[in-house]
Amino acid sequence: MSASPPPIVRLFLAAALLATALLAPGCRSGDDRAAAAARGAEALRPFKASLMGALKAGLAEGPVAAVEACHLAAPGLPAAASTEGVTVGRTSSKLRNPANAPKPWMKPLLDEYAAAGPGAPPRVVPLDGDRVGYVEPIGVQPMCLTCHGESLAPEVAAVIAERYPRDEATGYTEGQLRGLFWVELDAR
Ligand code: HEC
Repeated sequence: MSASPPPIVRLFLAAALLATALLAPGCRSGDDRAAAAARGAEALRPFKASLMGALKAGLAEGPVAAVEACHLAAPGLPAAASTEGVTVGRTSSKLRNPANAPKPWMKPLLDEYAAAGPGAPPRVVPLDGDRVGYVEPIGVQPMCLTCHGESLAPEVAAVIAERYPRDEATGYTEGQLRGLFWVELDAR
């Protein structure tokens, strides 16, 4: 029968455990986090380029054609830009396409970035199963207002209403947070 250690020893052990939990892996995971952020940013690059490409090609034909082009092309782009073990996407708290709805881990980040603004730095957060989530804020630029602004041209409003009957993604002004780019990837 081993007697349990005296309270002072137990306190010491608890403090030592807490320090190990907070400090030691913290240092290592700081490196892991920076590496994951770099891999996340890299994974987003082709996704952003393909989105911008579809948008600009559409806009060359006018905003109505651009909505149609986005409607056709945008939903397939995340899958095309995802690779094995690395999934990318976009989300927002005011959705145009319900397929872009935030997963549970993204919701608190949307709230935090809404408060901090789109200039806030990217973040890496732990997910289940040795995976991490990486997010980058998406800010509203002047060109976005054609389709996400406070007052849309009637023909643009009409095609959006037709394609996205439950659209919530208007009423934005320049510099606001529009949403997040996200990546799910292995922690290391
Ligand atoms: C020509 C119209 C048009 C312009 C300009 C435009 N968007 Fe969009 N946006 C859309 C459409 C249409 C969708 C829905 C795409 C889909 O079906 O996945 C969308 C979806 C999004 C989404 C995904 C979340 C959601 O609500 O479904 C984000 C984020 C977004 N746009 C940000 C922007 C930003 C930032 C800009 C400016 C750089 C911009 N958009 C410019 C039409 C536009």
